[in-house]
Amino acid sequence: MDKLIIEGGACLNGEVRISGAKNSALPILAATLLADEPVTICNLPHLHDITTMLELIRRTGVELTIDEKLSVEVDTSTIKNFHAPYELVKTMRASILVLGPLLAHYGEAEVSLPGGCAIGSRPVDLHIRGLEAMGAEITVDAGYIHARSNGRLKGAKIFFDIVTVTGTENILMAAALAEGQSIIENAAREPEIVDLANCLIAMGADIKGAGTDTITVNGVESLKGCRYSVMPDRIETGTYLVAAAATRGYVKTKNTRADILDSVLLKLTEAGAKIETGDDWISLDMEGRRPKSVNITTAPYPAFPTDMQAQFAALNAVAEGVGHIKETIFENRFMHMQEMIRLGANILIDGNSATIEGGEHLKGAPVMATDLRASASLVIAGLVASGETTIDRIYHIDRGYECIEEKLQMMGAKIRRIPG
Ligand code: UD1
Repeated sequence: MDKLIIEGGACLNGEVRISGAKNSALPILAATLLADEPVTICNLPHLHDITTMLELIRRTGVELTIDEKLSVEVDTSTIKNFHAPYELVKTMRASILVLGPLLAHYGEAEVSLPGGCAIGSRPVDLHIRGLEAMGAEITVDAGYIHARSNGRLKGAKIFFDIVTVTGTENILMAAALAEGQSIIENAAREPEIVDLANCLIAMGADIKGAGTDTITVNGVESLKGCRYSVMPDRIETGTYLVAAAATRGYVKTKNTRADILDSVLLKLTEAGAKIETGDDWISLDMEGRRPKSVNITTAPYPAFPTDMQAQFAALNAVAEGVGHIKETIFENRFMHMQEMIRLGANILIDGNSATIEGGEHLKGAPVMATDLRASASLVIAGLVASGETTIDRIYHIDRGYECIEEKLQMMGAKIRRIPG
């Protein structure tokens, strides 16, 4: 297993180009299964999760053409089966996103049930209930979700009693090809939902209200081909901004968007960072100052994202003062805290709350990545810690961060990968 070795202490200074958003690219690739004509998706990030989604699509018999810039053309005309196997689904929960499109387009889908994962139980009951409300017959047997539809799915009113991102996306994709009108209430408002809706609209779907908590979809009989470019990754952007803040440095993130990062930029400003924004860039300058601790409560968009919680825990670990972090989306999403304690962080955990007393110094040590965003927080902590930090199990990082060590090296970090 590859490891990352970080020699801490360097102050980050430089520019970084932000990749396409993983959490947008995954539903958008799944949505290509809805079209009758070839769809080309651009600005895909080079990530393991994207490879997994492409493999999932390829296994159905669909033809993929990938060009040198990793734009992918998906042509569904050769589809042979509607099966998403356990061996792929178990490596990526977002595989569940093929359920809605396969069922809506082909009247049939067999998708392995995603298992438990490191950040909590994460059920998919709301996806299933939503599709059932649209007339699907769904059984769960031998670890697989078997879904059938007698003719087209029927438009329905779907109310989510918990705000779910991929749940909203699955129902939105299914509703695009259903007969009649669907109204999705208490829908997730994440920018990635808007990106997916824009791609579906480019394919000919009739969708209103994406980005609000009520989405109205008038189903169409078929969807056509299009060319669509995935939006920038707001979590990758936020991660590099926090890394620069923790190291008291400067970064300019390019090819990104400030309007989708309000809650994160607010907290960075509270931490003492000087933030400037332009059309497609955000810069952060600590002017050499030590960051100040901030309090954070995670909640669905537009509130503070759970996917940025771990990075801010690392920031608080070296900041001035005491910061409180409350995680309200996922149970068990504090595993990075134990690893940070190994680096000398002063953290008290009480259920889903953590109190972090910032210390002037962390000390390098061997640590283990437990999930995607937890790994990013350990990289940030390692950049600040004195001496050497070795991060094991970094395959988690490769699921969500494109060329993380190269991007950090360009900004002056001493970080290298040891193949294992
Ligand atoms: C997505 C993101 C992930 C992010 C999360 C929350 C993708 C590919 N992943 O994950 O990076 O951390 O949103 O912003 O976009 N729930 C149920 N039943 C369901 C579905 C969800 O109880 O059927 C619960 C979950 O356990 C969780 C909450 O709803 O407590 C929100 O989860 P959800 O928004 O569905 O997360 P994902 O879509 O899996």
